[in-house]
Amino acid sequence: MWILGHRGASRDAPENTLSAFKLAFAQGADGIEFDTYELAEDIIVFHDKTLTRTTNGQGEVLDHSLAQLRQLDAGERQQIPLLNEVLGCCDNTALCNIEIKQLASVDSWLCKLDRALQLSQMNPARLLISSFTHGWLQQIAQRRPDLCLGALTATSAETGLKSAMAMNAYSVHFALDVVDERYVKHAHQAGLKVLVYTVDLPADMQRLAAMGVDGIFTNVPAIARQTLTDA
Ligand code: G3P
Ligand code: CA
Repeated sequence: MWILGHRGASRDAPENTLSAFKLAFAQGADGIEFDTYELAEDIIVFHDKTLTRTTNGQGEVLDHSLAQLRQLDAGERQQIPLLNEVLGCCDNTALCNIEIKQLASVDSWLCKLDRALQLSQMNPARLLISSFTHGWLQQIAQRRPDLCLGALTATSAETGLKSAMAMNAYSVHFALDVVDERYVKHAHQAGLKVLVYTVDLPADMQRLAAMGVDGIFTNVPAIARQTLTDA
């Protein structure tokens, strides 16, 4: 079962920062998950719609220019990272899950993604692009069938599964409180990998591994690695 650092090793370092991603790999993660917004200038790595919880700024992310956002402290005096900087932290064996929180248009987003891939020299085969907004994923699937897509589901596992199949996704991502053996089996029968978020307790990690889940998103990769090694 893959261990993906959720926003990096975000219990031990500020979420969605370069130090959190590097720490996730140091703790034994197979990959990382992170959240993104498309600005006019570039794609940034950030979770909330507003700045208050994780930076020293205020107001909505999208009301700021890239220059303004890059002056903020996202924790331990780090900048909000750019997509290419985060991809640059990953070697070519790591799985990189880009969650799209907001984009301006699918075409402009894909141009910016390609630029980030060029700058970071990352192999696109190691990318997994996910979103709760399946309409964006469907558009990406039509334009770029080479990219792996992950259909994120929140409450309705059934609807998420159907949508993942319709877009020929690589994976379906279930919330921990809705996943069960039946959905894992259905997804596997449809050729989909199953990833589950957010899994921080060893008992849940063991239960999901026994169910045949393919990967978990965790804030604590070190605990996950220890748990799965001991099992
Ligand atoms: O990608 C899984 C998980 O990160 C989705 O929820 O709110 O943590 O971005 P959230
Ligand atoms: Ca996320």
